[in-house]
Amino acid sequence: MKATAKAHPNIALVKYWGKRNERLILPHQSSLSVTLGPLAVTTTVEFEAARGDDEVSINGKVAQGGERERVVALLQLVRREAKARGLGAPGRARMTSAGDFPAAAGLASSAAAFAALAVAARAAAGLKRDVKTESTLARQGSGSACRSIEGGFVRWNKGTRADGRDSYGEQLFDAAHWPELRLLVGMVSREEKEVKSRDGMRGTVKTSPYYPAWAKDADLEVKRIVPFIKRRDLEAVGEVAERNAWRMHATAFAANPPLCYLKPETLSVIQACAQLRKQGVGVWFTLDAGPNPVLLTSQRDEAAVAKVLTAHGASEIVRCHPGGDAQLIGSPASVGR
Ligand code: PMV
Repeated sequence: MKATAKAHPNIALVKYWGKRNERLILPHQSSLSVTLGPLAVTTTVEFEAARGDDEVSINGKVAQGGERERVVALLQLVRREAKARGLGAPGRARMTSAGDFPAAAGLASSAAAFAALAVAARAAAGLKRDVKTESTLARQGSGSACRSIEGGFVRWNKGTRADGRDSYGEQLFDAAHWPELRLLVGMVSREEKEVKSRDGMRGTVKTSPYYPAWAKDADLEVKRIVPFIKRRDLEAVGEVAERNAWRMHATAFAANPPLCYLKPETLSVIQACAQLRKQGVGVWFTLDAGPNPVLLTSQRDEAAVAKVLTAHGASEIVRCHPGGDAQLIGSPASVGR
């Protein structure tokens, strides 16, 4: 009744911003991301037969409050599934999770964490691997986690059902499709963001007059970017990613109270990207709900882009490439995939 899984974070090229159902975490629009190797979160879940309070430890610390509750809620969904499939409901769980990258300020650590948790918890309960079910489950921990079950390029289909069963991540191209793509995270700030994505989205949906336009446009951008990814057209992909990031942040700026995740260094990096392009370097930015820009480039231009990031205030650069599927580690169940 014990399993360990490893999952990568992801960065959205067309972002998810706003829920139509807060409890089930159902989005207003579809989104599309690249899974990021080599960064990963590794999670172990062990179920005991006896009932009792779950033990949750994240990055070496006992989790408390909302953080713990989100994990416990997901474990509860796994117990329910195991029971429904005649496996008997597992008892109390011991869960430990650790990531190999900074947990705050815009990197999607929760996506990797909930993806690894969904895979490990289902396996520990004796359930067979099933990417669609794992994605649907991970989504209920953190929306973007549904895009970290599979590697490469993943579209989160928003779905239309009220129960959310058709709202999950679907791999369109695997990591081997575009191995020379590079994604460089420039750490311009390590501060924990003041407004979490969850709250930022809620405020934006409720008060930004631009919200309906955002949701409609994002769905169209998901459709537009797929053929560009298929033909590995960095310029076309980069242009969609940049304008989608601007549109998400513009929608958030227009909320009441306004929401701004950018720092002066963020803008300075964005402007440096535009300058670099004039010099023939292929580089485009995207930005999640935090100040740290993620630059899309190729293996060829990676060194030039890293240099400019450092010159514009990045204290650290995390270099990523398309990553693989979430995997079970050291367990016979991993042979199934
Ligand atoms: O899944 P959450 O609640 O961490 O929200 C993620 C929101 C963005 O990172 C800003 C966009 C995205 O699609 O990943």
